Amino acid sequence: MISAPVVFNRVRQVKQEHVLRYWDELSESSQLKLLEQLRAIDFELLDDLTRRFIFGKENSQFAGDLAPADIIPIPQTASQQAEAIRAWRYGEDILRQGKVAAILVAGGQGSRLGFEGPKGKFIATPISRKSLFQMHAEKIKALGIKYKTTIPWLIMTSESNDAETKEFFERFSYFGLDQKDVYFFTQQMIPAIDGQGKLILDRKDHIFTNPNGHGGTLISLKNSGLLAEMKTRGIEELFYFQVDNVLIRICDPCFIGYHSLANADMSAKVVAKKHAHEKVGVIGKLNGKVTVIEYSDLPKSEMEATTPDGKLKYNGGSIAIHLIKLNFIEKLTSKELNLPYHVAHKKIPFIDDNGNLVIPESPNGYKFEMFIFDALAYAKNCVVIEVVREDEFSPIKNLTGEDSPDTARRDLINYYGRMLNKLGVDVPFDQQHDVQGALEISPFLAMDENELKSKLGPDFKFTDNFYLE
Ligand code: UTP
Repeated sequence: MISAPVVFNRVRQVKQEHVLRYWDELSESSQLKLLEQLRAIDFELLDDLTRRFIFGKENSQFAGDLAPADIIPIPQTASQQAEAIRAWRYGEDILRQGKVAAILVAGGQGSRLGFEGPKGKFIATPISRKSLFQMHAEKIKALGIKYKTTIPWLIMTSESNDAETKEFFERFSYFGLDQKDVYFFTQQMIPAIDGQGKLILDRKDHIFTNPNGHGGTLISLKNSGLLAEMKTRGIEELFYFQVDNVLIRICDPCFIGYHSLANADMSAKVVAKKHAHEKVGVIGKLNGKVTVIEYSDLPKSEMEATTPDGKLKYNGGSIAIHLIKLNFIEKLTSKELNLPYHVAHKKIPFIDDNGNLVIPESPNGYKFEMFIFDALAYAKNCVVIEVVREDEFSPIKNLTGEDSPDTARRDLINYYGRMLNKLGVDVPFDQQHDVQGALEISPFLAMDENELKSKLGPDFKFTDNFYLE
């Protein structure tokens, strides 16, 4: 272990000694805590990020030749539909063989939503009032029942929400899942810095750090031993999803099928952009490699460019749903994996000269994060499929407005309403195509209209506020 004087020396060398300004008034245990934090900081990395992003004004590592990616469209023609059915059946077989695990990234701080605690505890379903975690757990359990298999569930947390997440699962008895099939692992943290490249104290004995982004998943999976554990369990594919998408189709057999039939290392789902200027990253190619091109990196002319059939040239909005081969992660993490860091200007709590905590009203510092989609560039083969936004993507990001609890509730109700409608049930929709009223369908009853078909009596009628289970 590096001794305290060596750590102090290093801190002075890199001109970060302001973090020691309360040292003399700290208790011994607080001193140890701060020392521990300082030991773990990779100052070289921080220095590099500061030079490039803060002083060098680099926004990202984005440079090179852009091109659209090949995207499997939503099936329209008979042959596309036949291909989708083939993929579906193939994916179902892989699920039945127990080769798929689900991996949820839930280590984020959910700052835009402003919800105290892990975002997965947020109540999301319209009638039964289940949390996001419970929603996902029930889908995983229902899939296990349907395919007579077990789908291990890996959940990535971070230092700031790990204990509370585990406590929540304990309290609700893992939502009916077998505890031995639910695995938690934590991602690493990285310090944020201010505009002068200085570390930020948010307590006298603590430097502000944030989780290192969902790109931290791969290395943390390896370090936690879970990659090896999954291999032992015979897992070959990981279905990656984020905590806040209420419409997520966990382990979608069709996606698994397309991905496996192409022997892809890593695949992605996209939705058509709402309009050219929607602030979403698009899947495209950079120097021939599939990647997500962030909104700010796509030149305006390309953003607005269209194809001969009138669609946007870059139309595949990334929705952060992936399939990743286990052996691809093994390969990537067998040597040093350097996913690039991205920077974001954010509000970061700090202590003032009197040691009082201040929550700033505007961004005052920079957070660094790695993104999972940067692993796409290393994949030998990628499949990108387009799916229907209304059926598969509605995240809870903000407290109000777009991508909020209100829009998620509406989108869920509409999804269930359309399921019933397709089966001939008379569902009242208003002019915006929103269901007039509320309804919910348990995943244990059905996850799509094909499953619902056999379960719905011929006389079934829509009534407001019902929960079909
Ligand atoms: P977001 O980028 O939306 O971040 O994460 P967030 O933390 O949920 O919300 P904001 O930006 O602070 O408002 C998308 C998904 O990635 C996970 C989140 O938990 C969410 O499921 N994530 C994000 C991590 O697991 N770790 C991270 O470091 C960042």
